[in-house]
Amino acid sequence: MSARFFATLAAVTALAAGCVSSDPPAVIPGGGPLCASGRYWTRGDTGDNFMHPGRACVQCHTESARGPIFTVAGTLFNAMHEENECFGNSGDPTTGLKTWIEVVDQTNRPFIIEPNISGNFYTTHEFRFPLKRVRVITPSGQFLQMDDPPSGDCNSCHTREGTAGAPGRVYAPNNGR
Ligand code: HEC
Ligand code: HEC
Repeated sequence: MSARFFATLAAVTALAAGCVSSDPPAVIPGGGPLCASGRYWTRGDTGDNFMHPGRACVQCHTESARGPIFTVAGTLFNAMHEENECFGNSGDPTTGLKTWIEVVDQTNRPFIIEPNISGNFYTTHEFRFPLKRVRVITPSGQFLQMDDPPSGDCNSCHTREGTAGAPGRVYAPNNGR
């Protein structure tokens, strides 16, 4: 099952890589970002569940001393190289089934977080750090995994182009439009 997920991802990755290197800036005529979902956040720093998809949630909330201090937070996207503020992926729109973020800490108990319709996922659950593993699990049970994430601020590394060696966004193929 996971083999098919990886095969699909390879195709999507190849497409996205082509776009990033040759295309003009990913904006639409109104000036907003070009998003696979066709929707994006426009309300600045207004505190909200859907705010700033793609940006580093924990870093901003900590530095500004405003907003909840999440233990794990980030955004699930439809594609590897989506712009900041693009609404991402929350699951399969036809079945309503969610794509899950599964976090395993030192207790070995899996903790599931469901992204909301902006793709944002977050929790203040008291994990026992360091985290052992995170997985993106699709409604059909396929998954992508990262071992030993050094922090729960997923978007700090999973930027559009990838920071600190990350391949790009946390994402699952674009069934979340
Ligand atoms: C550039 C700064 C910044 C970033 C990035 C940011 N936030 Fe916020 N967030 C804020 C501020 C400021 C508030 C508090 C607003 C207030 O007090 O009115 C807040 C508040 C919130 C709240 C509380 C809303 C409420 O009803 O009280 C949630 C939920 C939230 N943020 C989620 C997120 C998530 C998820 C992310 C990452 C995808 C994120 N934020 C990224 C600045 C940010
Ligand atoms: C310090 C940077 C950093 C942070 C923080 C981070 N990641 Fe990663 N992530 C990476 C790197 C580097 C890779 C690629 C190498 C690997 O898998 O370890 C990766 C890979 C992944 C993959 C596998 C992608 C693929 O195509 O196989 C997933 C899924 C993932 N991360 C999810 C997350 C989630 C969810 C969080 C937040 C809990 C997170 N990451 C936090 C750097 C980070």
